[in-house]
Amino acid sequence: MYYGADYYPEHWPEARWTEDAVLMREAGINVVRMAEFAWTRMEPREGTFDFAWLDRAIDVLAGHGIDVVLGTPTATPPAWLMRSHPECFLVEEDRRPLTFGHRRNYCPTNSTYRDHTRRIVAAMAEHYAGHPAVIGWQIDNEFGDRCYCDSCVRAFHIWLEARYGSLERLNAAWGTDFWSHIYTAWNEIPLPWSGSHTHNPGLALDYRRFMSDAYVDYQRLQIEILRQYDPGKFITHNFMGFGYPKLNYYDLAQDLDMVAWDNYPRFQGLRHASMLALAHDTMRGLKSANFWVMEEQSGPAGQTQLGKTPRPGEIPFWTWQAIAHGADAIVYFRWRTCRFGAEEYWHGILDHDGVPRRRYREVAKVGAQLQRAGDVIVGSRVKARAALLLSYDSRFGFQNQPLNSVFSYERVFESYYRALWNRNIGLDVVSPDADLSDYAIVIAPSVYILPEDVARRLREYVSAGGALVTSCRSGVMDEHNVVVNQTLPGPLSELCGVVVDEYDSLDSVDAVVLRAEGPLGDAQFMSGVWVDVLEPQGAEVIARYGSDYYAGQPAVTAHRFGEGLAVYVGTVPDVAFIDVLCRWLCEEFDVRAPLDVPDGVEVVERNSDAGRLLFLLNGAGGERVVDVGVGGEDLVSGDMVAGHVAIPSLGVVVLRA
Ligand code: GAL
Repeated sequence: MYYGADYYPEHWPEARWTEDAVLMREAGINVVRMAEFAWTRMEPREGTFDFAWLDRAIDVLAGHGIDVVLGTPTATPPAWLMRSHPECFLVEEDRRPLTFGHRRNYCPTNSTYRDHTRRIVAAMAEHYAGHPAVIGWQIDNEFGDRCYCDSCVRAFHIWLEARYGSLERLNAAWGTDFWSHIYTAWNEIPLPWSGSHTHNPGLALDYRRFMSDAYVDYQRLQIEILRQYDPGKFITHNFMGFGYPKLNYYDLAQDLDMVAWDNYPRFQGLRHASMLALAHDTMRGLKSANFWVMEEQSGPAGQTQLGKTPRPGEIPFWTWQAIAHGADAIVYFRWRTCRFGAEEYWHGILDHDGVPRRRYREVAKVGAQLQRAGDVIVGSRVKARAALLLSYDSRFGFQNQPLNSVFSYERVFESYYRALWNRNIGLDVVSPDADLSDYAIVIAPSVYILPEDVARRLREYVSAGGALVTSCRSGVMDEHNVVVNQTLPGPLSELCGVVVDEYDSLDSVDAVVLRAEGPLGDAQFMSGVWVDVLEPQGAEVIARYGSDYYAGQPAVTAHRFGEGLAVYVGTVPDVAFIDVLCRWLCEEFDVRAPLDVPDGVEVVERNSDAGRLLFLLNGAGGERVVDVGVGGEDLVSGDMVAGHVAIPSLGVVVLRA
């Protein structure tokens, strides 16, 4: 198994490199990522290349058995380039171009920037082609941000023309009759710089899609060069988890061999373990495949302000949780804390002084464990019988029209994820295009933009026996962000056996009483944010509103459809209600945790030909005793375990049954 660190030899005297390599090796590190910000070092002047320093660094590492992933350095263009080509700067929504001095400050559609990109990527790829220690490539660093420059305006017009073919089609799709926005030439179409103005939602959605495609295209430009010069090596990019909303990550992942991502659990506060799990599952779902963590937090983090130091045991715990959810390699950010630059506060495994201390020892301990266990784990697959459907189009739609001040697609999504995570149900996060047939339960929260073919596949899924949960604001918009010409939930109403009679947008999360009934038992909860007053058309009512003018009206329904069941949740319920709903569905559809464990212990199952691996992660905050039955080998300790096993706080057992 690959285990490593992000390494910046250019930040340290060459005399130190060997000591670094020795320390790495002693910690079990066998891979580093390098060079992703080192453009000016590699090309100090236009067309003049210097790879000698990087060659020497790679030689030192390779001499100690450490392989290298090289990053293309395009996230940080050289000063000489941006001085002579200021048109390459990314322009922000307020139309102000970024300036030099940070990173991610370039426009991905700018042809000059793309030419410079081709040159540095080709030079790197040609120089390292076939190098035995260079095992793969990372493209750029954490793609993102939207650009509003003139080049993007032109590229947007070309993108629109390819998508719609004619202005008649575009005008019809967007509904440009509204406010006399009918376009008579492509170059009349603006970018939706919002400010205080509302743009046509079709335009706003397409601009977001276009900008996402612009990065996909820019990434492809680099992929093609790397494949041409250095075929056979993996190409990846470091994504930013579930939380990053500006790119369609399914599209960005498509051309890559593998997804990698950057996991920072304790930065501005400690993120709940379920949210880390969601991020891992989302990243695994991008290609339905295992992934790497390319940056795993290894020290206190911050740029201008410093967050808390990872508590003893947290770094190993985060590492094992990532592996449990499908990571096949862990690379820590960063090897040694830099003494200068914007991230002086962003700590790595070693502090500024390069002295190995507690965090190094924790990393080394996991390194030793992985030397024993890693190869058994790598390649095994997470087992999930439930899935959540993640729609970037819907995210983009809500970014343009957020409904009200408290609605959040992400929070709704997280609340369903967390209810199932609490029950230790294995979960996949899947795209709207995914094959759903293997899942017993699919939750599709607020699929606001719902193309007809996705609706059709949801009907087929339920008809064949699946359980679907969908929620308010699903099926509202067609693929052009135009409200469907049907009673809501539009293309889902037949499936859900329900129509929305009236709705109410609320600015509070606990505004309305919600009373469960029928299979959910008689209990009272709260809901808010949004209220769909439902009129069942064949569905059974399983919860009603208990206050406001819709008191007594249906809020949540369940509809037998074909062999399956479709649940429509017309509001944003509190976690207790979602928990009751999920418990009922899991019982009905026989979806269980792989093992019964005390609260606060996370269980994740990975499977391979070598057998079944159960990851038991104790995040409860104190010792927990887990009954592992006949048990098996604990890959972490190397011991055989059976019966009642005491797991200390932040302890991990990986049971090979
Ligand atoms: C990541 C980034 C790294 C480093 C790290 C800490 O987002 O990829 O280069 O900046 O955060 O800030």
